[in-house]
Amino acid sequence: MQQVSFYQEAFVSYLNRFTGKREPESLYNPINYILKLGGKRLRPVLTLMTSEIFDCDYKEALDAALSIEIFHNFSLVHDDIMDDAPLRRGKETVHEKWDLNTGILSGDAMLIMAYQLFENYNPETFQALAKLFSKTALEVCEGQQFDIDFETRDDVTVLEYLKMIEYKTAVLVGAAMKMGAIVAKAGEKDQNIIYEFGKNLGIAFQLQDDYLDVFGDPETFGKQVGGDIIENKKTYLYLKAVEFSASNKKTELQHLYSLNTTDHSEKIKTAKHIFVSSGAAEATQKKIESYTEKAFLELEKLDISKENKLKLMAFGKQLMSRNV
Ligand code: IPE
Ligand code: IPE
Ligand code: MG
Ligand code: MG
Ligand code: MG
Repeated sequence: MQQVSFYQEAFVSYLNRFTGKREPESLYNPINYILKLGGKRLRPVLTLMTSEIFDCDYKEALDAALSIEIFHNFSLVHDDIMDDAPLRRGKETVHEKWDLNTGILSGDAMLIMAYQLFENYNPETFQALAKLFSKTALEVCEGQQFDIDFETRDDVTVLEYLKMIEYKTAVLVGAAMKMGAIVAKAGEKDQNIIYEFGKNLGIAFQLQDDYLDVFGDPETFGKQVGGDIIENKKTYLYLKAVEFSASNKKTELQHLYSLNTTDHSEKIKTAKHIFVSSGAAEATQKKIESYTEKAFLELEKLDISKENKLKLMAFGKQLMSRNV
């Protein structure tokens, strides 16, 4: 297996060949805009890395990797509409730069493009990829709907939250890795272990995303800091803060999250303060570590080289300390 940067560069050059000029421009320009806006390329890198772990040339997995990244970007375009988000990767979101209808249709087209890429595989691989993809994509929709439903609920539990982030985020990370294993024709047992590894890493990843949404540096984070607070998202930070706070603070926080205020900065300041003072911020960090460890335990069941296991673990640790 090569360094992460190797797979990132190989992926981006493949993506650049894919994103050419196409008519109508009003449909394809927003697609190329979001795809070329950057991002960590976490999921496609995992697909490529996994294919090599299971003794396949990463080049064979490029279409699966591209499919996953296009799907991910489709989900971001629609997610930004649903979350009313102004910024993505430090730039205007698609629906802000163009408009709502553009965001909807360009997103739809990306979902179709993601499926279309499986046509480049032989029938057996095609079927396995499409089957996993359909299941995963539907789960992402379910997770996204739970996320939205939770905004207006005041009785969300930690278990419900964990299920929601497993669906909206973690299953796609698991699927990205399993697709690499499918392309490499790894055995079913190994495919499932690597899926579980990715899924647990994905849960840690979303917990970290929620953490950064509050505590990230606005200069480098690339998204609107405090966006989740404005939208009343019932994150782990929020749920733990409610659990840990004395009744007056708890009531204050719950009241704050029942409003759609216009004074965002005051709301963000108060929530952020309670997240820290209640110990919720610290508890979130612990939970991130615990899911990362859970992912690492899966690796023990896998019959791959020690060197490759260490590389996967280094990747997991790197994700934990990221700040974008
Ligand atoms: C953002 O994903 C959406 C989540 C699931 C948290 P990433 O943080 O991977 O976004 P990019 O692609 O690197 O911008
Ligand atoms: C995103 O969750 C999950 C999907 C896009 C499916 P978030 O709403 O937390 O992602 P960001 O923070 O906008 O990237
Ligand atoms: Mg969002
Ligand atoms: Mg969202
Ligand atoms: Mg987020």
